[in-house]
Amino acid sequence: MSGLPLDAIRAQFPALALTDAGAPRIYLDNPAGTQVPQRVADAVSHCLLKTNANLGGYFTTSIAAEEAAIEAHRAMARFLGASSEREIVIGPSMTNLTFALSRSLGRTINPGDEIVVTRMDHDGNISPWLAMAEDRGATVRWLPFDTTTWNIEPKALDNVLSNKTRIVALNYASNLTGSINDVAALVERIHAAGALAYVDAVQFAPHGFIDVQTLNCDFLACSSYKFFGPHLGIVWAREQILSDLYAYKVRPATADLPWKFETGTPQIELLAGLTATIGYLESLGAPHTGRDALRAAFDNASAYERNLTAQLIEGLQSIQGVTIAGITDPAKFESRVPTVSFTHTKRQPSKIAEALARRNIFVWSGHNYALEIARTLNLDESEGVVRIGMAHYNTSAEIAITIDALREILAA
Ligand SMILES: Cc1ncc(COP(=O)(O)O)c(C=O)c1O
Repeated sequence: MSGLPLDAIRAQFPALALTDAGAPRIYLDNPAGTQVPQRVADAVSHCLLKTNANLGGYFTTSIAAEEAAIEAHRAMARFLGASSEREIVIGPSMTNLTFALSRSLGRTINPGDEIVVTRMDHDGNISPWLAMAEDRGATVRWLPFDTTTWNIEPKALDNVLSNKTRIVALNYASNLTGSINDVAALVERIHAAGALAYVDAVQFAPHGFIDVQTLNCDFLACSSYKFFGPHLGIVWAREQILSDLYAYKVRPATADLPWKFETGTPQIELLAGLTATIGYLESLGAPHTGRDALRAAFDNASAYERNLTAQLIEGLQSIQGVTIAGITDPAKFESRVPTVSFTHTKRQPSKIAEALARRNIFVWSGHNYALEIARTLNLDESEGVVRIGMAHYNTSAEIAITIDALREILAA
């Protein structure tokens, strides 16, 4: 059973109580973006209304704004297990930061060097590396995923790694299949080949406790709008790597970490919201504090989410013509996040998503930028899958309503 106080949690998210023409909203669009607790909106609003200023001045509002910016980096360092806030780079989105960092890393790449990308990643962790490889004359190697285990198998790396490999870009959890990779095992092989590991944790971060020290990767990216926060992207990297890396910045901007990678005025109000987001997650793990609270929060949330996943998958499997693209064996649910994608023999994903939307049930259809998964599975690229993605604030009743709706929509 859940260790989560579900009613108290839901009460903190004003959006969960909204209705449209009397119909409650069922948010199952979480992999594309989650709802935010009141305290996050309050922090953004406080910053805009009471401490709005640029950074670096002698006056109260500027000092407060600077403190808000620093505090967000400290909060993210706690969230990810970074050694310090100097290792946290924050920007508008994961994709934007990855393009920027790939450009910096590209300055160390020579013609003939090799870059590895996977068939399992969101394009935000593929296209930046393809562009950089093209700019630098590097060779791209593609790492497949196993369509029976739904994971990237560590031994598959042996076919693509060589002494020329410089960077491997891979994901922690898939935004389409929901499967979780054994990142630590993959990183071990990547490092043995002398390459750097750039990990996309965007879809893992809302569901699991992240410890960059245990993963031992070199870069890890996530996006706070996927974990109950504002629209920001965050990249952690080892201090030594960041300090050695060239940063594209204006001349007067500081060369200090992490600011050299955040040239220009930051989204200060969103940074205030980010600190409140981490505060919310820590509150779920009370009476523990800091990293212990985060660990407890995710232990409870993931156990609860696994129950919802079991209910959803069992329901989907009871509907004729449904094929789930991902892990369905309950014994392996620790290897997946609660994102469940499926196709149907007769109805197109877009039509199913539309029919659910008419019932105020919010889901996504399409390839969801996991273009390479759609290709690997020979899916119609424009239609992809129906994706139902849960968060810890969803309820068993919402899943039951969704299954009933699908049963009706998909009835022959
Ligand atoms: C796995 C994964 N990686 C990267 C991204 C891109 O993140 P952002 O929107 O912050 O650029 C997403 C967004 O859906 C995602 O699901």
